[in-house]
Amino acid sequence: MLSPDVESAMNAQIAAELYSSHLYLAMSAYCESIDMPGSATWFAAQSDEEREHALKFVRHVVERGGRVILAGMETPPVDFGSALGTFEQALTHEMNVTQMIDGLCGMALQHGDYASQVFLQWFVTEQVEEERTAGEVVRMLQAAGADPAALLMLDRELGARRPAG
Ligand SMILES: [Fe+2]
Ligand SMILES: [Fe+2]
Repeated sequence: MLSPDVESAMNAQIAAELYSSHLYLAMSAYCESIDMPGSATWFAAQSDEEREHALKFVRHVVERGGRVILAGMETPPVDFGSALGTFEQALTHEMNVTQMIDGLCGMALQHGDYASQVFLQWFVTEQVEEERTAGEVVRMLQAAGADPAALLMLDRELGARRPAG
């Protein structure tokens, strides 16, 4: 059984992962609108991945006899300023998600919930990857600056991303 505290924090995490999926879909559409189709593909894949994250939490809550409560969702922004702005905001968002995961880990530890601790390990590792990848793209976009050729090449590279990476 999940403790009520862990259960409600897991539900908050489900909402956060679903919002991430929503946010990255909005970012994908925005990248499309500024002629960065590769970046749009990258964010579309990221959006799918976030839905998978939400589903992992849903499964965990259900398997532990908890109750899944889906909340309404905030509307994501429409305009992210630039390709660089988009990836910067994605990085900031992932840093917040990392804090939530860390908070959940602390709570599971405090409640002696070993099953949740084991479950959360995957997300601890995943957040390291998320921050690293978003950070890398931010640095590459900063290096490309306003150089159209460099931006075109980078966008192509981002478009080569395979789903669930
Ligand atoms: Fe996630
Ligand atoms: Fe990932």
